[in-house]
Parts: sequence; structure tokens; C-alpha cells
Amino acid sequence: MPPLPLIPLLLIFFIPFSSSVAPQLLHQSHFNKHKFHLNKSDSYKQYYEITRPLPFHTLIPSCALPVFSHDFENTIGLPPTTAGYSSPANCTWSHVSLHLSVSSNGSQYDRIAAVWLDGAELLRTSTAEPTPDGVFWKISKDITRYSSILRQENLTLSVMLENVVNDVYTGVYRVNITFLYYDIGSNDTGSHGFNFPLSLFPLNQKSTVMKWKENPVISTLNREENSLDLYDKPADLIIPISGIENDGFWFRIEKGSDVMYKGIQIPANTYKAVIEVYVSFHGNDEFWYSNPPDSYIELNNLETKRGHGAYREVLVLLDDNIVGSVIPFPVIFTGGINPLFWEPIVSIGAFDLPSYDIDITPFLGMLLDGNVHSFGLRVADAISFWLVDANLHLWLDNNVKEVQAMTFKYSAPSSGVECESKFHKLDGSFEIEGKRKSEVSGWVNSSLGNLTTYVHQKLKFENTIKFKKNGTQKVVKQEVKVKKELRVESDTGTLISRTTVKKTYPLKITSSTLAGSEKNTYLMITDLEHSLKEERSNGNLSSSLVNSQQSSGWMFVQDHDVLSGAATTDQSYTYKDNFSCYSQIVSAANGKLGSNTTSLLCSSSF
Ligand SMILES: *[C@@H]1O[C@H](CO)[C@@H](O)[C@H](O)[C@H]1NC(C)=O
Ligand SMILES: *[C@@H]1O[C@H](CO)[C@@H](O)[C@H](O)[C@H]1NC(C)=O
Ligand SMILES: *[C@@H]1O[C@H](CO)[C@@H](O)[C@H](O)[C@H]1NC(C)=O
Ligand SMILES: *[C@@H]1O[C@H](CO)[C@@H](O)[C@H](O)[C@H]1NC(C)=O
Ligand SMILES: *[C@@H]1O[C@H](CO)[C@@H](O)[C@H](O)[C@H]1NC(C)=O
Ligand SMILES: *[C@@H]1O[C@H](CO)[C@@H](O)[C@H](O)[C@H]1NC(C)=O
Ligand SMILES: *[C@@H]1O[C@H](CO)[C@@H](O)[C@H](O)[C@H]1NC(C)=O
Ligand SMILES: *[C@@H]1O[C@H](CO)[C@@H](O)[C@H](O)[C@H]1NC(C)=O
Ligand SMILES: *[C@@H]1O[C@H](CO)[C@@H](O)[C@H](O)[C@H]1NC(C)=O
Ligand SMILES: *[C@@H]1O[C@H](CO)[C@@H](O)[C@H](O)[C@H]1NC(C)=O
Ligand SMILES: *[C@@H]1O[C@H](CO)[C@@H](O)[C@H](O)[C@H]1NC(C)=O
Ligand SMILES: *[C@@H]1O[C@H](CO)[C@@H](O)[C@H](O)[C@H]1NC(C)=O
Repeated sequence: MPPLPLIPLLLIFFIPFSSSVAPQLLHQSHFNKHKFHLNKSDSYKQYYEITRPLPFHTLIPSCALPVFSHDFENTIGLPPTTAGYSSPANCTWSHVSLHLSVSSNGSQYDRIAAVWLDGAELLRTSTAEPTPDGVFWKISKDITRYSSILRQENLTLSVMLENVVNDVYTGVYRVNITFLYYDIGSNDTGSHGFNFPLSLFPLNQKSTVMKWKENPVISTLNREENSLDLYDKPADLIIPISGIENDGFWFRIEKGSDVMYKGIQIPANTYKAVIEVYVSFHGNDEFWYSNPPDSYIELNNLETKRGHGAYREVLVLLDDNIVGSVIPFPVIFTGGINPLFWEPIVSIGAFDLPSYDIDITPFLGMLLDGNVHSFGLRVADAISFWLVDANLHLWLDNNVKEVQAMTFKYSAPSSGVECESKFHKLDGSFEIEGKRKSEVSGWVNSSLGNLTTYVHQKLKFENTIKFKKNGTQKVVKQEVKVKKELRVESDTGTLISRTTVKKTYPLKITSSTLAGSEKNTYLMITDLEHSLKEERSNGNLSSSLVNSQQSSGWMFVQDHDVLSGAATTDQSYTYKDNFSCYSQIVSAANGKLGSNTTSLLCSSSF
């Protein structure tokens, strides 16, 4: 076996008495870690984030636009790299997808990156760590919701990826981005023979198409035609709630009291508004869900700065009122917890971090007064650092100059966070329970009618961290539950639409450390369970997603080097809706892909 380079993050994450490494001004998830490889491969190895294909991936795009190509070398401290963008000429399109491909060889940390168009974020992503033999990966994202920006000319596309390249860290990230444009408007019935609800459009597979044709519902569904089905149509205007370009547009939040504001005056004919939040966590808060309270660190004289407890919440403020909050899905970057877990299947969301939508339509009554209002972003209890920004999506009524609106019920979101800490020396248990409930409604009188929107959200957060066996065993358990309901009613009280979303994301990490016989050596054994479950319904249509990963492994570490190790990751991904279904079960062991079963036919009919 070749000499193995290794991984210090464990030192930082798992061992409470380990020292934390000197912070640098770097948007990276870890310091002083390398990649771990059990075997050399002859060629570039592909990494994957398991997800379903885009609904229109089998259709032929009307045009393809390579928009960006750059090698990110020593880019630390530099502004983002930019390219010009103009909507492709002579191309009729209704949908757009973004395709990112990255390759790298050498030695390098995982890095955080983002893509903005005209200052609006389109994608938050992180990198795999390269090997001397090279790695590559590809991702696709439906970016149709950004159509109002994508249709413009002479814009700037910006990509931030702060990387360090020197004698030690040699990996350069080579990045290409292409946009594919599809013309699959609502009246396109030609090739498919039916109008389909696009977001639910299944894979173009013979057997399944037959099955759908037998389903009479398909031909009666036509979202674009139904002007009252406001939900899935892309916004008419998107205003970024972001910082200055030189720093990469995202706001850098270092502490709980930091609030980043942007003043925005919204058009008087806005009838619907949604804030989309992008967020990632780094430095001492990369593993915020496993951070013990400061008192534990202080009383045990630990050097780590990964503290401040495990409660974090991203708050969206409108003129200093909380109008929404998000407890982010705990995305684990490729160097996180045990890097062997994420090779070649990365953690859920690592290549395409989720963004979070907050419908603020009921607040239009406060916003439509022609004044500039301040939109703010904050991370409760944060320690350094978080990268947060947002897009304000606005739908405009083209038939009138202005609409009237009123916010008539707003109970400021009540929240309660309870913490319980018990510890003696290095052993102890820390529990946090948090809840937030919000309820708001308001009417908007536009040419669509006088419609009242009700938004209800319930958020529940539970976190337990236990240290046992003199701090050498750590168990982290977290569960976040979100329930949302959005109801639109006419002035006569008729229900126009009802959308519900239920999300849960449980996480469990168990790790034990055993001291080795030689100086500064130890063995670490870790198990991890991680899931994202989501159920949505919109009228009589529904969808569900269950995406779960289970990893276990060990490694033998000396100082900052992993000398040996083994790991397995099993993942199961199942998506179902009224028209399609996609399920994939994969496993990886010691850096190699094992079984991979994909199915488009679900056993239980949805
Ligand atoms: C490494 O490669 C060798 C030879 O191909 C193989 O026998 C061994 O099982 C591999 N080890 C791992 C951990 O994959
Ligand atoms: C667009 O189409 C028109 C008419 O066919 C043609 O004159 C023009 O050159 C085309 N423009 C581009 C950029 O292809
Ligand atoms: C990027 O595009 C260039 C030019 O088409 C190609 O040579 C290169 O292999 C691509 N790199 C990646 C990472 O896709
Ligand atoms: C990456 O691969 C190329 C081509 O094989 C090689 O020339 C280069 O030295 C490698 N870079 C690093 C940092 O290993
Ligand atoms: C974009 O820039 C070109 C060249 O500078 C110019 O001719 C064109 O009018 C601009 N388009 C818009 C929409 O500003
Ligand atoms: C819809 O049909 C109209 C009339 O046939 C046509 O002009 C238009 O381009 C079509 N739109 C799409 C998106 O196919
Ligand atoms: C509601 O909006 C419509 C369309 O803008 C307008 O004609 C109507 O007068 C408005 N109703 C009231 C009571 O303002
Ligand atoms: C517990 O860990 C601390 C710090 O490593 C060490 O100093 C102490 O001796 C340990 N206590 C026992 C009982 O092993
Ligand atoms: C719209 O409807 C609400 C309640 O249904 C009502 O209180 C309000 O006065 C209406 N607004 C207009 C402009 O008619
Ligand atoms: C589903 O809802 C649509 C629109 O609300 C309606 O036209 C359709 O009949 C409903 N289908 C079923 C099966 O209930
Ligand atoms: C879609 O599936 C859900 C869940 O099985 C079912 O309740 C609903 O009736 C279905 N809708 C249609 C239009 O078939
Ligand atoms: C799994 O199999 C599917 C279909 O055979 C293929 O498209 C996909 O690339 C494979 N995934 C991985 C991670 O190898």
C-alpha cells in the first residue's frame, strides 16, 4: 500500500480534547485534511450525488449554451470569476437546466462554491476532494424558476470557489457550466400526445408512457392554463437579497447578532412574493449539530472552538419582524465526519445544497406602500461562519398598475428553545428542544380577484449530544420536522388552492475513539444515519421523497494522517408522485461502487 495521506477533521469533530486548527480566511469546510485512498485507480474516478433525473432530461433541448469554463487555482481572497450571459438568440424555450461538470487531480480540501446570475443565486454546491489520479462529477439542476433573469441580455454570471494552490495543496478545480433550454410549453402536445404537469413529468420510457396514457387525469391537467395555479409558474421578477460582488454576493455571518440587510422597493403590481434562502455552514459551525455548549469546553479546558451548543436557526426579517425561519438540512461535505463515507457517493445535498422557500404573500399589505423595506438575514446562535443569501421572487399583475393588499392576521412567530445540560468532566448529555409556530394571512386584490393567502408553519427541532467513556464516545441525534400549509381562498371563501409540505430530517452519528499503542495514534469507529423525507400535496396531486444514507467505518489515525481504514455507505432514494416514480438503491464500500439498482416502476401504486 502506498503511504496514505490523511484526515484531521476527525480530530476536530470527534475528539473533544483535540486542538482546533488556526482559522484562516477561507471558505472551506476543514483545515489540514487530505484525501484518503485505499487503492489507486488508473483513470479519473466519477463521484455521484444520488438523485432522480430531471423531468425533461430525455427531451431534446432547443439550444445549449456553454456559459462558463474556468480553472480555479489559487483563488483565495479573490472576487468571483465572471462570464457574460445573454439569453440565446433565436431560441424558443420554456424550461432551462444547469449542468455543472468539475474535474480535479492532486491533493485538495473540499471547497464551497456558488453560481449567481445578475447577483441572484442559482446553485450552492461543494466539491469532492481530488486524488492524484483525479476525480470528476456532474450535476444537473432545473433552473426554470429563474426564467425572468435567464431571458435577459448582457448579464454577469459569477462563480465563487475559493481555493488554495501551493506546494502542498495542488488540486485545481476545472469547472464547466452549460445551460440547456427546452421548449416544452403547455400547448406542446405533439410528441407526447398529452399535456403533462411538467414538474411531475416522468422519464420517457415506453412501458411507463403506456401506463400514463391510460390515466385520464393526464389530459385534463394543464398547469399553465390555470391562471389561478400560481404556485409553479416562474416569477416575473427576481431581486437578490445578497451582498457585494467582490465578496461573492453571499453574506458572511460570524455570530448570532450579525444581521445582513438589503433595502428593496417592490413593484406596486406584485400579487405574490416568495423568499428563497440559500445557506451553508463552515469553520467552527460546519458540524453545528454536534457542538457542545461553551461551558463544557471551558470547564474541561478544551481548545476546540466548535461550541455554542447545537441550536441554529436562519431567520428572515422584514423591517425587523421575523417573517420566516429555516433550520437547514445538515449537509455533510465530502471531508466531513469520515471522508471514506463519501467516496464515490457523496452525502445528501453535497453537490446541490437545498434552498428553502418562504411565502411572504400575506405580507404584501405591508410591502406595497411604495416605500423601501429592509429584508434581513440572521443566523440565531451562529459562530463563524455561515454563508447566506436569498432571492426575492415576485409575481406581477400585468393588467394593472397597482394591486391592493392587506395583512390581516400576523402572530409574530412564537418560539421556545429549551436546553438541558448535564456533565461531569468529559462525560455528559446535552439536550435542546425548539419549536416555532407561525401563522399569517392577508388578502391581495389583483386582476385575478381578491384572494386571501393563509400561511401556517410549524417547526420542531430536537438535538441530543452525549459524551460517554471519559469523552471518547460521542452520540449525536438530531431531528427537524417542518410542516407547512399554504391556502388561497377567494373573497367568497372558495378554496382556490391548498399546498402542504411536510419535511423531516433525522441524523444520528455515533463515534468511539480508542487510543493506539503508539504516540498520537487512535482508532475511530463511526456510524452515521442521515435522511431527508418530504411529502408534498397540491390540490389532489401529491409527491413523496425518502432519501436515506447509512454509513459505517473505522480509521486508524496518527496525528493528522489516516493510516488505514474501511467504510461502507448504503443509500436508498425513492420518489413517487401521481404520474411517476423513481427509486434507486446503491451501495459503496472502500471507495468503490457496489450494487446500483434503479427502477422506474414502483411496486406500490401511489
Ligand atoms: C485494492 O486493490 C486490490 C487489487 O486490485 C484488491 O485486491 C483489494 O481488495 C483492493 N482493496 C480495497 C480496499 O478495495
Ligand atoms: C436569428 O434568426 C434571424 C431570422 O432567421 C436571422 O436573420 C438571425 O441572423 C438569427 N440570429 C442569430 C443570432 O442566429
Ligand atoms: C470543460 O470543457 C472543455 C472544453 O469543451 C473540455 O475540454 C473539458 O474537458 C471540460 N471539463 C470538464 C470538467 O467538464
Ligand atoms: C494532474 O494531471 C495532469 C495530467 O496527468 C498532470 O500533468 C498534473 O501534474 C496533475 N496535477 C497534479 C496536481 O497532480
Ligand atoms: C447588450 O449589449 C450589446 C452590445 O453592447 C448591445 O448591442 C445590446 O443592445 C445590449 N442589450 C441590451 C438588452 O441592453
Ligand atoms: C403555442 O401555440 C401557439 C399557437 O400555435 C404558438 O405560437 C406557440 O409558439 C406555442 N407555444 C409553445 C410554447 O409551444
Ligand atoms: C380589485 O381589483 C380590481 C382589479 O384591479 C379592481 O377593478 C377593483 O376595483 C378592486 N376592488 C376594490 C374593492 O378595490
Ligand atoms: C479522561 O481523559 C482525560 C483527558 O484525556 C485524562 O486526562 C484523564 O486521565 C482521563 N480519565 C480517565 C479516568 O481515564
Ligand atoms: C378582499 O377580501 C377580504 C376578505 O375576504 C375583505 O376583507 C377585503 O375588504 C377585500 N378587499 C377588497 C379590495 O375588496
Ligand atoms: C383534481 O383536481 C383538478 C383541478 O382541481 C380537477 O379538475 C380534477 O377533476 C381532480 N381530479 C380528481 C381525480 O379528483
Ligand atoms: C394522487 O395520489 C394521491 C395519493 O395516493 C391520491 O390521494 C390522489 O387522489 C391522487 N390524485 C390524482 C389526481 O389521482
Ligand atoms: C446507476 O445505474 C443507473 C442506471 O443504470 C445509471 O444511470 C447511474 O449512473 C448509476 N449510478 C451510479 C452512481 O453508478
